[in-house]
Amino acid sequence: MRAQAGSQHHPDLRAALEHLLTAGGKRVRPTIVFLAGNMLGAPHDKLVTLGAAVEMLHTATLVHDDLIDGSLLRRGMPTLNARWSPAATVLTGDFLFGRAAKLSAETDYLPLMKLFAETLTIIVNGELTQMFAAKGLIDRKNYYTRIYAKTASLFEMSALAAAMIGTEDETVRAAMKTYGCETGMAFQIVDDILDFTGDQAAVGKPVGSDLLNGLVTLPAIDYAESHPADPEVKLLAEGGWANQERMEKLVHSIQASSAVRHAMDEASEHVEKALAAIAPFHPSVEKEALEALAKYIVERNF
Ligand code: IPE
Ligand code: IPE
Ligand code: MG
Ligand code: MG
Repeated sequence: MRAQAGSQHHPDLRAALEHLLTAGGKRVRPTIVFLAGNMLGAPHDKLVTLGAAVEMLHTATLVHDDLIDGSLLRRGMPTLNARWSPAATVLTGDFLFGRAAKLSAETDYLPLMKLFAETLTIIVNGELTQMFAAKGLIDRKNYYTRIYAKTASLFEMSALAAAMIGTEDETVRAAMKTYGCETGMAFQIVDDILDFTGDQAAVGKPVGSDLLNGLVTLPAIDYAESHPADPEVKLLAEGGWANQERMEKLVHSIQASSAVRHAMDEASEHVEKALAAIAPFHPSVEKEALEALAKYIVERNF
């Protein structure tokens, strides 16, 4: 990923990439690429390229997401938009998208490039839908569609792309695709739970902010369904999510309810489906690690 900075580019672009890479992140998606790919005997150099491509694409979406959300903290560090103009932030995100596309092309595998481009359009469509149509919306089905688009699609791509360069066997590819999708769904549900329960220092990004941004996630949906008469739920349903004081009250009600536990149960169900998808594979260290990774998703606190 560092090699993608390119000495011929503007020093600020290089500095921004360096800043983002130093901040790290969990690198969950490339981990899935390596484990799935190694389990299926994919060539190492192609996996390195693919892993970098996936993480670069992810990083680019975060740069734009933080600008859109107005978030000032990411991976425990100030975001680009905290220090730069929106224009410079957008362009830096574009630079990262360009580098991700170049990396995906370096796998020399056209179906993979198509998958890459498809996934990016799904993510963008998801973010735009969330922005225009989902503010304040209390709707389970809409929520699942949204989290597939913004998060599970990229997990799905990571696992499937690794399988595509590892094997021609369509059954195996489909199993890895399911594994990626289900871990991704669980991952976003837990991310949404951490917005209610997380410790900002551990999470490395602002918590308690989704609802105040009009983002109604699973814990809030679950609470709203079981407390339809709650005045704050009514206010939210009427589009009152901009009322900071009353939304903070709602956040506390949700934290004190069983909604978080219910959401966690749902995340665990997705993890079970991910585990079932890879259960038929022969025992291997990679398979064991993929199982551990899926389980870690519901145990993490950052
Ligand atoms: C953050 O992803 C965005 C979501 C999809 C929830 P991660 O939690 O994987 O972010 P990093 O890469 O570890 O910082
Ligand atoms: C980010 O979703 C998903 C994408 C980057 C497409 P969120 O807005 O929930 O992620 P965080 O909580 O800021 O990491
Ligand atoms: Mg965000
Ligand atoms: Mg979030």
